[in-house]
Amino acid sequence: MPDAKPQLYRDLAVQLGALLDGESDPIANAANMVALIWHGLPELNWAGFYFRRGSELVLGPFHGKPACLRILVGQGVCGTAAARGSAVLVPDVHEFPGHIACDPDSRSELVVPLVEDGAVLGVLDLDSPVPDRFDDADRAGSEELVALFVAHHRRLAPTDAEDIDPASGCRLPLPRREDLDEESLRIYDRLADPDGGTLRGLRGPGGIQLHSPELSRRSRPVNHYLRYESGLGGRVRELAILATAREHDSRFEWAAHEPAARAEGISPEIIDTIRWRGATVGLAEPDAIVLDLAREIFAARQVSSQTYARALEQFGERRLVDLVALMGNYAATAALLTAFDMQLDREQPPPLPRLFFPGR
Ligand code: SME
Repeated sequence: MPDAKPQLYRDLAVQLGALLDGESDPIANAANMVALIWHGLPELNWAGFYFRRGSELVLGPFHGKPACLRILVGQGVCGTAAARGSAVLVPDVHEFPGHIACDPDSRSELVVPLVEDGAVLGVLDLDSPVPDRFDDADRAGSEELVALFVAHHRRLAPTDAEDIDPASGCRLPLPRREDLDEESLRIYDRLADPDGGTLRGLRGPGGIQLHSPELSRRSRPVNHYLRYESGLGGRVRELAILATAREHDSRFEWAAHEPAARAEGISPEIIDTIRWRGATVGLAEPDAIVLDLAREIFAARQVSSQTYARALEQFGERRLVDLVALMGNYAATAALLTAFDMQLDREQPPPLPRLFFPGR
């Protein structure tokens, strides 16, 4: 029966498709996928997900004994598969240097990474009490199941969607100069001027806002004050904007501001901590508090007394109000970018990976 295994995986893929159909919650879907695998594949003692967060993999839905909560990317079989971005098949876990023994019954292991746009978002880990349990058919079959899972949750890639105007890159047309009164014309001309001081010109949130000239007139000075006159400084400003973009999954906002963050001297490591919502432990306090505050406001939807006290100590009352208002200002921008579906530039690789774990 040489074809039995591929056929088994083909059947599982059909069942997985049916389970995923119509459900968008990745945790619910991951839980059902693991249940399907657990009951569909023989000789497993552990099957489950780890999802990437910062430089760690964090335990997701699984079946089997309680397991390690966090695994560093690069460590163990899971971390190795995540670091390589390709499946790791271990016939005998005792022969794999650095294997992390969550369940002493495990004798062989197969780990398949979840890859989207070149980024590893997590891994599917299968353990067996039987040595040499997994072969290439298991690897191929599991990769197929994982690919289905990733594809199901994929956000729409930069598209040729019918409602996107190619000139504006979003659902609204570019604002037309001849429709504008004198005051709005000044805003238009600043936006159209490559040296006008905006990051994206008319093909960005400024162009969207100009469809409501009164909004544009009123909001631009507020944005300018929060960014440049409130005394927060460039580093805090760009940390706050990136953290806000991350928490709103605003790829366009992120892409516009990552270069600005680098220009303010924010290191690639810190930018990656924000991108992957990694731990802020070990960052300098002024940086850590900006990230913690943004995550609590937008993800936890509650700011703890400790975080509030740290933020107050760091910024004082007036600047803290301005900092939170700056985050709110960029949350509003992210809402506009999402509603009008502002597209990344075609050549721009997606800068923000999808995060599967909920909350902060
Ligand atoms: N053995 C894994 C750790 C995860 S448990 O098997 C659930 C590893 O070495 O990465």
